[in-house]
Amino acid sequence: MSVRRYHVQTFGCQMNVHDSERIEDVLEGAGYEPATDERDADVIVVNTCSVREKAEHKMLSLVGRFRELKEARPELRVVAAGCVAQQEGEKLLKKSDLLDVILGPDNIPELPGILKNIDDGAPRTVRTVFDEISPSFLMATPRSNSVSAFVTVMKGCDERCTYCVVPNTRGPERYRPADDIVEEIKQLVDSGVREITLLGQTVNSWYDPSALDEKPTSKRAPSGSRFALLLRRIAAEVPNLQRLRYTSPHPRHLTQPLIAAHAELSILPRHMHLPVQSGSDGVLRRMSRRYTAEEYLKRVNQLKSAVPGLTLSTDLIVGFPGETEEDFLATLELVRNAGFVSAFAFKYSERPDTPAIAMGDDVTNAEKSERLQRLFEVVGEQQRTHLKSLVGTTTKVLVESESGGRFSGRSERHEIVHVQMKEGENPIGEMVEATIIQAFDHSLLAAGPGVDPATVPSRAPKARTKLPVVGA
Ligand code: SAH
Ligand code: SF4
Ligand code: F3S
Repeated sequence: MSVRRYHVQTFGCQMNVHDSERIEDVLEGAGYEPATDERDADVIVVNTCSVREKAEHKMLSLVGRFRELKEARPELRVVAAGCVAQQEGEKLLKKSDLLDVILGPDNIPELPGILKNIDDGAPRTVRTVFDEISPSFLMATPRSNSVSAFVTVMKGCDERCTYCVVPNTRGPERYRPADDIVEEIKQLVDSGVREITLLGQTVNSWYDPSALDEKPTSKRAPSGSRFALLLRRIAAEVPNLQRLRYTSPHPRHLTQPLIAAHAELSILPRHMHLPVQSGSDGVLRRMSRRYTAEEYLKRVNQLKSAVPGLTLSTDLIVGFPGETEEDFLATLELVRNAGFVSAFAFKYSERPDTPAIAMGDDVTNAEKSERLQRLFEVVGEQQRTHLKSLVGTTTKVLVESESGGRFSGRSERHEIVHVQMKEGENPIGEMVEATIIQAFDHSLLAAGPGVDPATVPSRAPKARTKLPVVGA
């Protein structure tokens, strides 16, 4: 039998990006090879996200595109994986005759076996079972030459923000033992990775499940300091690691020990992405975020005082049920007070089986668009002012890629920086000290070590290098 080929298409957050790496790994472990294009694939996996509206519809219309391919080659298998798959399960089989497998995020290792059974005559298959009893945290082999890699520390979410589908699609919180996390990071760094991003839906609520006495006694009063201990342990035990990021922290787990770790560990970036969602206490309460705008600001101000020059970015929702103009103005005020240098902002959309459905969806789409636009203006202005303020300063850039003779990477504050190096130098994977010479709308241009800034030609970066500011 000739080599079978796979193609994976990914939507959604970093957890899904990492899951797609795992899907590729398990398929390669079973002898599959990557296809150059979906038309050459024997298995097409669509790894879906259902966090916002029309997710299922988008997935089904994408799958509809495979009809011709499937008619030409009936042995082609189409797999729906990820959060829409987990949420809708069996129902998807009825909605599309093109789908062969519906696969939940915890069932990835089963995929090759399922495909084999179908080849042997088994019917279309749904596997969407959470591994609650003995959770597994599959490692993904680092992509060749990749400077950066993800490491999962926890999965699932127990927060149950009233608008959010993730607790349903990713299941209850499960934590990974510290020894396993550190071991995976050591292996990745030994293979050339220089930056690790720790992943979890509320990543900073982590505690070590193998140390029973460390289990927080109350969900409402988490210690959070366990996560700070994990960061310290990684910094101490993996000396060749250059940068340690994490996403997404929840504001209520931004504790004093975590702030202290940021002040002391140079391996942590001088940047935090800390989703706030709204600046109105009434809206925050109805969202069940469990903090007020004042509490959020107090904590981020403590963090900023502890780490000079630290920048913040965030996630925001506009048009949550009952959001008035006054509520929205409170959000704009918080955005200014926190000084976010970038933000992902979204129009509220009702999600299936979430508590907020009972609150209605009373803000019109036109109002949501208008509020999004106003947010865009404020955050965009703050971003431009911030980037301009950096011209003339030096920054440490972890170089990740090269295009047209110019290198790109991220600064210690997570800005995208394009660096002009000396002729013949290739700093990919290295941390270089660069002098910022020009600010674009969403990125920076810099001169690398020993390069005279006056000799660097100014050039607008390509559109794909943009750092998103506000999304719909
Ligand atoms: N676990 C992360 C966020 C996961 S979802 C956290 O809590 O920080 C990513 C973002 O999508 C959220 O921060 C929120 O801003 C947005 N989002 C989630 N549900 C949404 C909904 N129903 N409508 C609009 N935006 C939503
Ligand atoms: Fe969703 Fe809230 Fe959990 Fe984030 S913390 S995944 S927004 S329920
Ligand atoms: Fe989307 Fe699932 Fe991530 S809903 S945002 S892919 S956890």
